[in-house]
Amino acid sequence: MGIAFFIGFLLVFLGIDIYILRVYFRILESTLARRVFQYLYVITGIIAYVGVINIYLSRAVFENESFNASIFKNVTSGVFFAFFIFKLLLASYLFIYDLYRYIKYIILRIKRKKGERKVNLKHRRKFIGQLGLIAASVPFASMIYGITKGKYLYTVKNVNLKLKNLPDAFKGFKIVHISDVHAGSFDSKEDVQRGIDLINTQNPDAVFFTGDLVNNDAREITDYVDIFKSINSKYGKFSCLGNHDYGDYKNWGSEEAKQQNMQLLFQQHKDMNFELLNNESRRIHKDGEFIDIVGVENWGSLGRFPKIGDLDKALTNTENESFKILMSHDPTHWDEKVLEHQTHIDLTLSGHTHGMQFGIEIPGFKWSPSKFIYPRWAGLYEEKNQFLYVNRGFGFLGFPGRVGIWPEITVIELS
Ligand SMILES: [Fe+2]
Ligand SMILES: [Fe+2]
Repeated sequence: MGIAFFIGFLLVFLGIDIYILRVYFRILESTLARRVFQYLYVITGIIAYVGVINIYLSRAVFENESFNASIFKNVTSGVFFAFFIFKLLLASYLFIYDLYRYIKYIILRIKRKKGERKVNLKHRRKFIGQLGLIAASVPFASMIYGITKGKYLYTVKNVNLKLKNLPDAFKGFKIVHISDVHAGSFDSKEDVQRGIDLINTQNPDAVFFTGDLVNNDAREITDYVDIFKSINSKYGKFSCLGNHDYGDYKNWGSEEAKQQNMQLLFQQHKDMNFELLNNESRRIHKDGEFIDIVGVENWGSLGRFPKIGDLDKALTNTENESFKILMSHDPTHWDEKVLEHQTHIDLTLSGHTHGMQFGIEIPGFKWSPSKFIYPRWAGLYEEKNQFLYVNRGFGFLGFPGRVGIWPEITVIELS
C-alpha cells in the first residue's frame, strides 16, 4: 500500500469518525452520557489509529523479526479491521437515515402553507441512534470472536461420495483434504498442532493438500515443518502449489533469490513428507487395484493468477479409464479446463476461496460474499458425473480471523 493511499484511507476514516461523533452529540441529551460516549469513542479510536499506523510503519520490522505473524500484529490489525467495519456500517446507517430526514424535510417545506409552523430538522430520534449502535455491535463482536477464537476453530466436514468408476478395493477409502495453510499468518504453534491432531484422529488413508502453503516466502513454513510432517497417512500425502507459493507478491531483488525460494519450498514439501505434484501424477495401489493421483500447478481464470497448470502434461502417465483424483488449487480451473477435458476426472480437490473467511453456515444453508466472486466457493459440486470439492482453508490471510466460515478439515469417504 502506497503512502498516499494509506493517508487517504486514514482521512476517510477520520471523516467517518467526525460524522458519527457529531450525530451522537446531538442525540445524547445528558452531559454525562455525552462525556462517556466521547471518551469511549476517542480512546478506542486512538488505539485503532495507533495500531494501524504502527503496523504500516513497522512492516519491515515484523518481516525481519520473524516470517510468521506475531499475536500482537494479528490482534492490532484485526481489532482495527473490526473497528473499521463497525464505524463504516454505523456511518452508512446514519447517513441513510439523514438522507431520509432531509428528503422528508424538503417535501414538507414544499407542501407548507403560509402561516404554518416551520419544519424542524434538528430532531433526531434517540431510538434510531441506539438501534444503530446495537446493530453495528453485532458484526463487531463477531469479528473480535473471529480474531481470538474463530481463526483456529478447526472444523471437520464429512462427505460420503458415491463414485461410479471407483475400484472395489478403494470402497471405504478415507481421504483427508486440507488447503490454504498460509503459514506466514500463524501466530500460535499450539493452536496449529491442535488442527493437525484433529487430522490424525480421522485416521486417513491418504492426505491431500491443495496449495497456498505460504503467503510469500518459503521460510514462513520452516517453524511448522515438523508439525505438518507429523500428519499420518497410510497411502501417502500429496500436494500441489497455489498462487501464493510462487513468491509473486514479494520483491525479491533478483530472479535468483526468487528461484532459491522456490527450491526451498520444494524441499519443505519433501521434509513434511508431502509428494508435490507439479503437472504430474502418482499411483496408489491397493489389493491389486489402483487409482491415479494427479496434481497441477496453479491455474486461475481471475485477476493476475498464474495459468501454468497443465492438465495434459499432468495426465501423461495415467490411463484413460483409471479412477482419478485431481488436485488443482483454484476452483475456476474446474469449470474452464477440467470439465471440458476429454479425460474424465472423477474428483477434483480445490481451495483458494477461503470462503472469504466470513459468512453464515447452518445445516442446509450457506452464504458468503465469496459467492459473488467464485460460483464454486465452498463444499461439493457435481457436473457431468464429475465432482469438485472446494475446501474453505486451514489458515487465514488478510483479516487475521474467521467469522462463520471456520478453518476446515475435509474427510471424504469414497464409496
Ligand atoms: Fe489461499
Ligand atoms: Fe490461493
